[in-house]
Amino acid sequence: MRKKIELVPSLLSSDFSKIEAEIKAVEKAGAKRLHLDVMDGHFVPNITFGPIIIDAIRKLTKLHLETHLMIENPAKYLDAFIAAGSDTILFHIEADKRPGSTIELLRQKGIRPGIVLNPDTPVDKILTFLPAIDQVLIMTVYPGFGGQKMIKKCLEKVEILNKIRNSRKYELMIEVDGGVNEKTIGDVVKVGTDLIVAGSAIFEKRSPYDNFKILERVIDENTNKR
Ligand code: DX5
Ligand code: ZN
Repeated sequence: MRKKIELVPSLLSSDFSKIEAEIKAVEKAGAKRLHLDVMDGHFVPNITFGPIIIDAIRKLTKLHLETHLMIENPAKYLDAFIAAGSDTILFHIEADKRPGSTIELLRQKGIRPGIVLNPDTPVDKILTFLPAIDQVLIMTVYPGFGGQKMIKKCLEKVEILNKIRNSRKYELMIEVDGGVNEKTIGDVVKVGTDLIVAGSAIFEKRSPYDNFKILERVIDENTNKR
């Protein structure tokens, strides 16, 4: 039987003035990992936070921290994000000229490597790296902002990846990021995802605790339909 699908809160839409309470709320709701969106204003048209904030978050929680690097030349900054306490580092294939050496460096340092695909990037671009990584993140919005509408077509890539990993027996987790909410999460479950990121759907409107529980319930309802 396939492992239970994990819901991964993205702190991008959380209230950073009370970040500890926000983290504790999703911990209490059952989150096992947190998604940290790093943006540099070059690779994406927005700027968020860097290693200093991740270091502070690391001190507040023992949850698995996955850092989603939306930055040009990620290799240059790996050491800083590793030192800050990331457990997994996800870098964009579009932003890295030497993905093979980035993966190798992360492995050497005991960090789990993952590759991210923008909406227009096909799965073909990363086939050679699949045996060497732990995770693929499929973007279902153009990265840069929370609260966007999901581009459903991108879910086809999850189905393609699923077939590949099953036939080649790769130990690979597939994750989806962007536009996940109560209405869209069912489709994400059905295509065979392992991890589902949600930002605004968790940290806006009701409490993060309640939102997390509601989304998990929809995951469970749809898991049986797979
Ligand atoms: C977007 C980020 C996402 C973002 C998702 O560029 O990579 O992780 O937080 O936000 P929602 O869930 O609101 O689409
Ligand atoms: Zn993200």
